[in-house]
Amino acid sequence: MDNKLDEITKQMLKEKLFSEEFMKIMKNNTKPMNTLMAYYRCAIMEVETKFNVLNEQFSLEYDRNPIESIKSRIKSMESLAKKVRERNVPITVEGIEENIHDVAGIRVICSFPEDIYMLADCLLQQDDITLIEKKDYIQNPKPSGYRSLHLIVSVPIFLKNEKRNMKVEVQLRTIAMDFWASLEHKLRYKKNIPAQVADELAKELKDCAEQSASLDRKMQEIRNKLVKFE
Ligand code: GTP
Ligand code: MG
Repeated sequence: MDNKLDEITKQMLKEKLFSEEFMKIMKNNTKPMNTLMAYYRCAIMEVETKFNVLNEQFSLEYDRNPIESIKSRIKSMESLAKKVRERNVPITVEGIEENIHDVAGIRVICSFPEDIYMLADCLLQQDDITLIEKKDYIQNPKPSGYRSLHLIVSVPIFLKNEKRNMKVEVQLRTIAMDFWASLEHKLRYKKNIPAQVADELAKELKDCAEQSASLDRKMQEIRNKLVKFE
């Protein structure tokens, strides 16, 4: 028991020292770091606009909005520090840009699962978008039950005298998948749940994910039948 406590204390100290070191280096690089973060915000605007345009076009052509909502975020300094430490990334502005692919993140929430693939295809067809990585956690859900389609794309932003390609993580999911992920996220980050209770809740959540996926499929089928009568 004492050994385990020792280990935890050591680990916490290591994390704290790393975090302090990280923040110190970031402070000494305020200007380039702020610039990089501004570029990521621009990249988010570019990709968000692309999705808004697609939504607008569908609304005009088919009188429906495939996108329910879009949320975007820039990774916080704390989670950036954590990822840099876990992945052994060099603590430099270049190291971060090269190795961390989710500094800029966009979440696109759809009503129906088929819209996820349709929107992903539309985005990836665009000639200024390059796909870097695709993870289909809808076809292959995570052991937790997590479902979403993840894309890492590169998108150009146009600056005064240069064009710069920036990476953006796009997560596409249904309303049901999003609802599930936010509840499961709460369990994941609650530190004071006894292990046995956490296990039980994880099992229940996995069951929820399956029921929820089945509901998504059924509603998709109903919609596909309804479309024939439009
Ligand atoms: P990260 O270090 O988490 O970014 O892992 P990764 O680079 O292997 O990416 P992955 O595609 O596995 O997941 C990236 C993001 O997806 C996470 O930051 C979460 O937002 C989300 N995610 C992945 N797995 C889960 C999960 O089991 N539960 C929830 N709630 N979200 C998840
Ligand atoms: Mg991530």
